[in-house]
Amino acid sequence: MKINSNFNNVETSYLFSTIAKKIDAFLQENPDKKVIRLGIGDVTRPLCPAVISALHSAVDDMSTKNGFHGYGPEQGYPFIKNEVQKYYQNRNVDLEIDEIFISDGAKSDAGNILDLFDKDNVVLIPDPVYPVYRDTNIMDGRKIVYMNANESNSFLPMPDSNIKADLIYLCSPNNPTGATYNKEQLKAWVDYALANDALILFDAAYEAFIVDDCPHSIYEIENAKKCAVEICSLSKTAGFTGTRCGYTIVPFDIQFDGHSLNKMWLRRQTTKFNGVSYVVQKGAAAVFSPEGQKQIKENLDYYKQNAKIISDAMDQMNIWYTGGKNSPYIWFKCPKNMYSWDFFDLLLTKACVVGTPGAGFGKNGDNFFRLTAFGNKEDTIEAVNRIKALISSL
Ligand code: MLT
Repeated sequence: MKINSNFNNVETSYLFSTIAKKIDAFLQENPDKKVIRLGIGDVTRPLCPAVISALHSAVDDMSTKNGFHGYGPEQGYPFIKNEVQKYYQNRNVDLEIDEIFISDGAKSDAGNILDLFDKDNVVLIPDPVYPVYRDTNIMDGRKIVYMNANESNSFLPMPDSNIKADLIYLCSPNNPTGATYNKEQLKAWVDYALANDALILFDAAYEAFIVDDCPHSIYEIENAKKCAVEICSLSKTAGFTGTRCGYTIVPFDIQFDGHSLNKMWLRRQTTKFNGVSYVVQKGAAAVFSPEGQKQIKENLDYYKQNAKIISDAMDQMNIWYTGGKNSPYIWFKCPKNMYSWDFFDLLLTKACVVGTPGAGFGKNGDNFFRLTAFGNKEDTIEAVNRIKALISSL
């Protein structure tokens, strides 16, 4: 029996597990310290009332003979797919109902979709990047070409006609940098994918944070339905990090070698996935109701205020950063050009604040650091004060 030796090529521990272990070790030695966690992008506001009430009523359904639900459709119940379809329609994007697949979140689908692609495909991934895109491809043994995202392109790399890629990962607003592509930039990517017979895997998990006129969906770009799969999640939009629900759009128009990607994904999902629970899908459908939309907006506004608190502090300290505007992440240059894991240790031990070192997202993140706006307001203000004091003492 041989194991998948590609696992030898990934870090032994996932980035956020490594960070969690470091915090635990610090707290073991310093049990009285109050650590403020602005590291992993995990939400802190409770689920909104419309979702809670839908969850309660779905639990009640399960207690009655008529309301009980066993196995559901693997690709999601029509009641939620209809809501997703309307959500896109509001942005003038037309989706067929069977192009929508309900999932337990963006992370799993981002990894699972690789089942559809040959291991010989060349993958184009930005550096820095959400580690899931990189690690899942390394686990499969695919060749990765990194595109440089850095200060000079404001962390928004553009296509290079000299590079021939088959699979392209784009995340906008970006995790970790918060940088967001505008319409012309995304159009250039769609044109590149069409010209190269490539597929874009577009992660829209942070679309709800967009405040300017940047596209929320890649399908706002003409012809994107011929070359892009979109993965989205309610984790950050509606506080579902622990509840788990998202959706993936696989358009009918995408064909490779005469095969419909949509049919392959349906085959994959019906074989390996039994769908998201009825109760959770009911709660998720309530996110799209008028009161759900109003209530999640209050939570999103709360996080956006935190983002402003952090980015205002960066402005005051004259520190270069991206994000914070269309995104819950602020990605800034480490003081004194420090290596980001060193800054992580310093921040944890001297200021008891946790962030995410840019090096965990790739080489181009070595001297950058990410803070999230998902904490509570008081903690965010306190963290910013501690960071300012620490940086001014260096
Ligand atoms: C992050 O902090 O980058 C995200 O929370 C990770 C995730 O969404 O899986």
